[in-house]
Amino acid sequence: MSDAAPSFEVSALPAIPRPGRVLLTTPDHFEVAYVINPHMAGNVGDVDRDRARHQWERLRDAYVRLGLDVSVLDGAAGLPDMVFCANQTLPYQTPGGERGAIISRMHAAQRKPEVEHYRRFFEGEGYEVRGLDPDLPGDFEGMGDALWHPGRYLLWGGYGYRTDRQVYDRLERALGFMVVPLKLDDPDFYHLDTCLCPLDEQTALLYPGAFDDEGIEALRAHFDRVIEAPEDEARGLFACNAHCPDGTHVLVQQGCTETTRLLQDAGYEVVELQTDEFLKSGGSVFCMKLMFW
Ligand code: ARG
Repeated sequence: MSDAAPSFEVSALPAIPRPGRVLLTTPDHFEVAYVINPHMAGNVGDVDRDRARHQWERLRDAYVRLGLDVSVLDGAAGLPDMVFCANQTLPYQTPGGERGAIISRMHAAQRKPEVEHYRRFFEGEGYEVRGLDPDLPGDFEGMGDALWHPGRYLLWGGYGYRTDRQVYDRLERALGFMVVPLKLDDPDFYHLDTCLCPLDEQTALLYPGAFDDEGIEALRAHFDRVIEAPEDEARGLFACNAHCPDGTHVLVQQGCTETTRLLQDAGYEVVELQTDEFLKSGGSVFCMKLMFW
């Protein structure tokens, strides 16, 4: 894996196209039924499911309006976190155009059965589906922690809470992409997608307090432009769990006033969405969708 400062020419990395398809999972069985991150504490049994359904439909509508090809998977009974469909897989497309998905090994026992539903989905899509090598210890939570650098065969690899660092060495060797590991240092930001949102090839939205010095240095070395979300919006409103599907629009939780202003100043079109029923479980826009090719 690379060190903090890029040991390779970024411009020499193979390019991959942005994914144009989005997967969503219905929130029919969504609830806060246990506590596996700090945001869930105090919220057990507190989800208003009708409200959650309404919020999820607005998210779906936003993707349809932006012209993305939306697929929907039905949530399964007994799997209240399955709606967070960014976590169970890491879809990839190689520079040669091969499509595959790495199946996650979920950290919490409660979430382990979710992965089978996504395995079936990607098998149905004709993807090359593979799990982690059985001899490899450690967990991996897919696109909760592993984020593609837009347009490049370069992966940002968060670790420390849900994903183990050594997993990235193995993936890097197996699939030939470059991984820049990022240590997560604050339990409120337990997944990389809670504190980093790559917007386009040049720009990232992030909350610097969630990273160590080495991580920040690596991020600044690879992104020409860094937009810093303020702590209250990052921690309380998941401002960095936003999503830019096309390099232009940014879908973000409602009420992130300062983040919205910074994004608009940088030229993005902000689409505000209310996801507060899902914030009770420690998730917002980014983790409620999965991009694939
Ligand atoms: N309750 C879920 C969990 O703790 C929320 C997952 C949110 N996903 C994310 N990528 N941040 O696993």
